[in-house]
Parts: sequence; C-alpha cells; structure tokens
Amino acid sequence: EKAHAAGASAFVFDEVETGIDDRHHVAAGYDADVLLRWGDPIFANAPEFDPANQSAAAQAKQFGYNNDYVGYIPLEGSSEHGLLVVNHEYTNPHLMFAGLVTIGEKDGKKMLQQAPLSKEQVDIEIAAHGGAVVEIRKVDGKWQVVRDGKLNRRITAGTEMQLSGPVAGHDRVKTNADPSGLKVLGTVNNCAGGVTPWGTYIMAEENIHGYFSGELPADHPEAANYKRMGIPEGAYEWAAHYDRYDLAKEPNEPNRFGWIVEVDVDDPTSTPKKRTALGRFKHEGAESIVAKDGRVVFYLGDDERFDYVYKFVTAGAFNPDDRAANMDLLDEGTLYTARFDEDGSVEWLPLTFGEGPLTAENSFSSQADVLIETRRAADLLGATKMDRPEDIQPNGVNGKVYVMLTNNTRRTDEQVDAANPRAKNAFGHIIEIIEDEADFTATSGKWEVLLKCGDPSVAEIGASFSTSTTENGWFGMPDNCAVDTAGRLWVSTDGNNAKDTGRTDGLWAVDTEGEARATSKLFFRVPVGAEMCGPLFTPDDETAFVAVQHPGDGGEEWEGFGRPSYYEDLSTRWPDFQPDMPVRPAVVVITKQGGGKIAV
Ligand code: FEO
Ligand code: CA
Ligand code: CA
Ligand code: CA
Repeated sequence: EKAHAAGASAFVFDEVETGIDDRHHVAAGYDADVLLRWGDPIFANAPEFDPANQSAAAQAKQFGYNNDYVGYIPLEGSSEHGLLVVNHEYTNPHLMFAGLVTIGEKDGKKMLQQAPLSKEQVDIEIAAHGGAVVEIRKVDGKWQVVRDGKLNRRITAGTEMQLSGPVAGHDRVKTNADPSGLKVLGTVNNCAGGVTPWGTYIMAEENIHGYFSGELPADHPEAANYKRMGIPEGAYEWAAHYDRYDLAKEPNEPNRFGWIVEVDVDDPTSTPKKRTALGRFKHEGAESIVAKDGRVVFYLGDDERFDYVYKFVTAGAFNPDDRAANMDLLDEGTLYTARFDEDGSVEWLPLTFGEGPLTAENSFSSQADVLIETRRAADLLGATKMDRPEDIQPNGVNGKVYVMLTNNTRRTDEQVDAANPRAKNAFGHIIEIIEDEADFTATSGKWEVLLKCGDPSVAEIGASFSTSTTENGWFGMPDNCAVDTAGRLWVSTDGNNAKDTGRTDGLWAVDTEGEARATSKLFFRVPVGAEMCGPLFTPDDETAFVAVQHPGDGGEEWEGFGRPSYYEDLSTRWPDFQPDMPVRPAVVVITKQGGGKIAV
C-alpha cells in the first residue's frame, strides 16, 4: 500500500490521453485483451462465426450483440474462475448485415440505408438479444472462455420466461398466445443489470418501446399507459413477422415488458422470472446490497428525461446459508420512488396500492395496476423528475449510493431544481445519497451532488471536477458504474463520441473521499463509434471487465441518410481488423502486467 499525500487521488495509474481512433487504449502497464466478441461460440457444439452466412440457429449458440451489463459470479468463491453474465442490449442491423442500399452521396462517401430485413435477419436479431452466461477461467494470468462449461447459456428475445409477483396472471398481461398471463417469450433491451447476494443474474428491460409497432384498437384502455412509455416507437421490424409486436393484434403484449428479469444461473434449464414487484418502466439496472437487518435493497433507475429514481426493499431477509430460501425474495417487498428536496434531504415514497393517491379514485384497483403503471403512480406521489437516471450503485465500503444522471438537454431554466441544477444539461451529473442511520432500507436520507460533468475549462458548462482533474480526466454522460472492493468509484460513459470533440467514451476513476473528491482520471477508452459499458471488478480487484458497445456506429453524423455499414465505412474494423470481418461489440478484460490489484 502506497501512502497518498492529502488531496492525492486514491487511484494509482498513469492516465490515458483522450483521443479518437479505431482502437481501444488502456493505462500504461495494463493489458486490455478481447475476451468475448459478437458471434463467438459459447458451447462445444456452436459453429464458428461466419458473418456472410450467419443464421438464427448459429446466433443462438454464440455470444450476442451489443454487450452492456457485465457481472461476475464466482465459482466456489474464486476471483479466477467464475460465470460472466452479460446483457445483449440491442442490435444494429446496419452494422450486422450486408444488403444496404445506396441512397446518395455526401462528401464523396456513399450514403446507405438498411434495406427492409428478411425474416431470417429478424430471427438473427431476436437470437442476438438477451444475455449470456459464460464460464471463464484465468490460466497463467490470462482469462479464457470455457466453451464446454456446463452452466453456459444463451437467453434470447425468444426464451420462455415466467411472469412472477403481483402482476402474474393479471388480465392486463393476458394475450391470445398466453391466456394465462404467466408465460412470456423473451426479454429485450437489457441495459444494465446486477448480480444478487444469492448469486442470480438480473437483467433490466429498458427501451422496450422500440420493438412495438401498429395501433391500439380505438379507445383501448392501455392508450395512456403506452403513451407514457413511448409505445409504439416501431424502431424494429419484428412486427412484420411476429403478431405479438403489433399493438393492433396483441394489445396487451407491451405490459409484459419493462420488468426486471431474474435468472438462476445454477440451472441452465431454469425459466427466467420477470419480477413484477420491482415495477415497470425503462429499467436501467438493479444493483443491490444487504441491509443491516438482512433485507436486500435494489436501486433502480428509469432512463427517461424527467423520470425517477426508485428502490425496492425485500420483505424477507437474505439467508446466506440457504440459497433456495432466497430464490423468491424478489416477489415480495416495497417499491419506493425518490423525492429529492431542496434542503438536501431525500424521501422515499412507497408505491403501495391503497396508500395516498394510489387508489380507485385514480383508477388503480390493485397493486398490479400500480406496478404496470409505475410511472403514473410515481407522478401522483410527487417524485422528483430527474435528468435520466441510469445506473445506481450502493457502496458497501462507505455506505453511500451513487446515482448516474446521464443528461437532459430539455430541462428549462424554470425546471431547474437542487437535484437537477443545470438547464439544458448536456453532460449529466452524479448524485450521492447517504441513507439515514447508514441503513439502506431507510425511508429518508440526505443527498448531495458529487459531480457536475462536462469540460471544466468552459465556464458556461458549470462542471465541478476538482482542479486536480486533467484535460483527459473530465467526462460527460455518466451511464454505467462500478465500485471496486476497496470502495472506489469507476464510471463509464455513453455519448462522448462526437468527432468534433476529439474524444471517445471510456472508463474513468472518480475520487469520492477527502480532498481528492471529484477528481477524475481516464483509465480506458473505446474505439470510434462505441460507448463504454460494464464495468465490473473481480472480488480480488485484479481484473476489470468492460464492454465495448456499438463500435463503429456512425451515429448522428449520418442522420437523415441512414448509417454506414461495415462494407462501406472503414472507420474501424475493431476488434479483428480483418476485411471479411464486421466491426464487433466485445467484452474486454483488463489486468495489470505482472499481476496485482488495479490502480493500486
Ligand atoms: Fe441503455 Fe440507459 O442506457
Ligand atoms: Ca447502452
Ligand atoms: Ca446504460
Ligand atoms: Ca445511456
């Protein structure tokens, strides 16, 4: 352990320089090795990736697309052998498939648009969504995939799941294909997630609105509910081939999405459960911590401009000696939403049917109604409208909770409040919550802004990084985050990838304690077009996993023209750099050269 002078960062490493190019960069003295790429076989009988002849059957046995959340579930307590659990949030058909059509030219480059997808391509998309459970092992200091691991599993947008908790079997979740209201096929848009104290894998269903198309029948009772969720957006072409994504044909199907999903990784044949007690909204993630009395607290963000922060407190206590006894803890408990007051206090308001405004007067007739329309219930309770709540991380070392608020350029001067202090908030901020009595189940606490993000050299932005933060160290758009075993905060970003700023997204180490508070240092950055997801540290702090999502995505630069495909745009062919290989999202594993804890 090195001693630090007062005000020195708790993180010991030489910062990466910002920049933008076709590859990833990590701090000197560290290795950043690609571990799992889109299309990598994860079963003994899975075919090798062949992008020109990809099929849904092959994809279902291969690592999926757009890795987001990364979790690590140790096997027998090991930091060198465990299950990596990874969400596959969404698909980018323009980067996955050939068959783009040229619609014009701009600056000498072809402008391309994705042609309508075939049913086989839609089926590949469905199989590329969901999540993966992959056994991995560290051998001679390097991590390897155990391709024949007996717990390896792919979960897709077609995997059968069970609706569980208060909404299970309710009339509002019954469909023609499932008159029981208990069985749902698949999970979509799993952004961040979590691993529970009892070793299950949590997937959070976020932007579900994109998968639905069509129009509800006239005067349908779900119209206001769906409008509040932005349904339908029709970003995907799935409804052309599957009736359940068409509101005209299956008007209740969207009520079966927008939940927290729990997967028992110990049994690869188990049915994942949609845990409805944790509410229905655009779930970012679900990181948890065991409170003093043994109950378990899950912190939940709803990633929408002017939406809310939530937490769920289980009714039962965690039993560390009996895994089976914990397996339905997520079906019973209290869901709360946060009101951040101007005096620096936070109140957690229960979303409980029959209490306050959550009654028949506001057309709630059961807890199931409150949960299906969680946002409307939270509106009525007067929760604080936030600047897009993303990942929320309880820190068991310092007892605090970190809330990533990614941005909200639509907030006006009149809408500014203490917890969302900037109008036109382009760069986001991070709030720190301190629950009363350091009890995570508390219904009140204190909060303060840890960091207002953005370039501190531009006064109008109003960023609040410490003066020790270098020009490489500042960032905007905090999204995912992690706390290492030492209790230090790491933040990954989504949106710093504009070519005119010369920066990409990355992983930053952020001091929270002492005089170094609000100092940030760049540890890793992604190739052009990507956002940074993960991150996750093994319990020994010797490995960090990060997820490079949508590398090579042309983004806004091509808005209105469709986006470039890998066949035409050579901005990057990360991570293979082969002419016959598309750019591929991948999980990268970071270790210190020669071994040892990271950033110590
Ligand atoms: Fe999928 Fe809220 O980021
Ligand atoms: Ca994402
Ligand atoms: Ca996210
Ligand atoms: Ca995001």
